[in-house]
Amino acid sequence: MKFFVDTADTAEIKSLASSGLLDGVTTNPSLVAKTGKKFTEIIREICAIVAGPVSAEVAATDYDGMMREAYVLREIAKNVTIKVPLTPDGLRACNRLTGDGTMVNVTLCFSAAQALLAAKAGASFVSPFVGRLDDVGESGMALIADIMQIYNAYHFKTEVLVASVRSPMHVVEAAKLGAHVATLPPPVLRSLFNHPLTDKGLAAFLADWGKTGQTIA
Ligand code: E4P
Repeated sequence: MKFFVDTADTAEIKSLASSGLLDGVTTNPSLVAKTGKKFTEIIREICAIVAGPVSAEVAATDYDGMMREAYVLREIAKNVTIKVPLTPDGLRACNRLTGDGTMVNVTLCFSAAQALLAAKAGASFVSPFVGRLDDVGESGMALIADIMQIYNAYHFKTEVLVASVRSPMHVVEAAKLGAHVATLPPPVLRSLFNHPLTDKGLAAFLADWGKTGQTIA
């Protein structure tokens, strides 16, 4: 499973990229707004930090507007992935852009039927939002299971990018279902490292090592 980080904060991205565990980045207009910085500059900076796909979302909602913005964004760097909403115009833009060899992430996916459309439009990634579904009393993970079943049945090349991830359990459940990518807010990515028995075990080992009086050299 690939790990993307879901943030536009370049300091966070730099820090997480140094772990060697980061495969890509997703941003959205809300995350960009939080930074107070110019969108195209942020994307340029992120693409210089991370070699993998970096999702940059169009703001237009009509086909022509999306295409105009996509042409600007994809010029920034080779690893820019154009993020379009799961609408008829968004899927039309997806079809056109992927036909040109541009990576496209179809976002705001909330149903298996929508995911089927995204795959048929040739999306590189589809982003089902698991946390937002859980928030309204539906099962985000049941959606991932449905999409994986459909995509596997037809050998679609579209990668399932699990989004709106809120906890390590979302990551583990998605991995068990074989989802290709999870995009994680930085705190969730960091929390994957944690287990109290790891901390306790390490403290005990260090204490015992101290008793040996040795150094490794
Ligand atoms: C990813 O591409 C999405 O923009 C993101 O995961 C949404 O997450 P949220 O529901 O926590 O805002």
